[in-house]
Amino acid sequence: MTKEKFKTYEGVFDNFTLRTLFELSSKGHFEDLESPISIGKESNIFTALTKQGKRLIIKIYRLETCDFNRLYEYIQTDPRFLGLKKNRRKVIFAWCQREYRNLLNVRDANVPAPIPIAFKNNVLIEEFIGNQNPAPKLKDQYPQKPKEFLNQVIKIIKNLYQHNLTHGDLSAFNILNHNEKPVFIDFSHTTTKDNPRFRELFERDLKTIFNYFKKKGLKITYENLLKEIKK
Ligand SMILES: Nc1ncnc2c1ncn2[C@@H]1O[C@H](COP(=O)(O)OP(=O)(O)O)[C@@H](O)[C@H]1O
Ligand SMILES: [Mg+2]
Repeated sequence: MTKEKFKTYEGVFDNFTLRTLFELSSKGHFEDLESPISIGKESNIFTALTKQGKRLIIKIYRLETCDFNRLYEYIQTDPRFLGLKKNRRKVIFAWCQREYRNLLNVRDANVPAPIPIAFKNNVLIEEFIGNQNPAPKLKDQYPQKPKEFLNQVIKIIKNLYQHNLTHGDLSAFNILNHNEKPVFIDFSHTTTKDNPRFRELFERDLKTIFNYFKKKGLKITYENLLKEIKK
């Protein structure tokens, strides 16, 4: 991407983020930024195109309007980030790095999730999940065969659990319905079993999924789902 092209993004991003994007682009990771597809609490999601015309996801953690106190609360007990200073940029960069590392780990475990491509500072690049358009979230597109879909979701939670991981922020917002198959996204909260908060996060994940499908009318019990995972 040329410096001139980047000038058009002045005002959209702060200068630091703009430089980070320019560096990632200069390394050849992407050529053209497209429009934002999501504005979240802490990050904005854009699609981008590579030189070859392949679509990617660019997740940009906002440096200014990001509740880094909340992020710090969560990352503080992660054994992989012990000793992290409570400094806005340091916390946000660690958060971004953690999501990248989590994506590598879960992909190694064969969990259906976006392939991580690169990260730098507050910017993460990952595989685009979708066909022409981004795959819909589970909450926006209920599966045609809910029981089968839930079984696959439980299998994924089990797989994560067997690899000593839990998603940490699992909900119908962070599961995509990609051609009727679940793909988990948003692994920034994902943590390992040696985190003292692992149990709490694991149970929260499973309860959220249980409550969602229960409300939709599936005949399930929390105990049975738990049994299935620990089997
Ligand atoms: N890899 C991806 N492929 C397609 N869509 C994505 C991808 N990652 C994120 N999205 C879309 O962007 C939204 C926000 O991304 P997410 O990582 O969940 O960030 P946050 O919830 O922190 O704002 C998702 O709900 C989804 O609609
Ligand atoms: Mg999300």
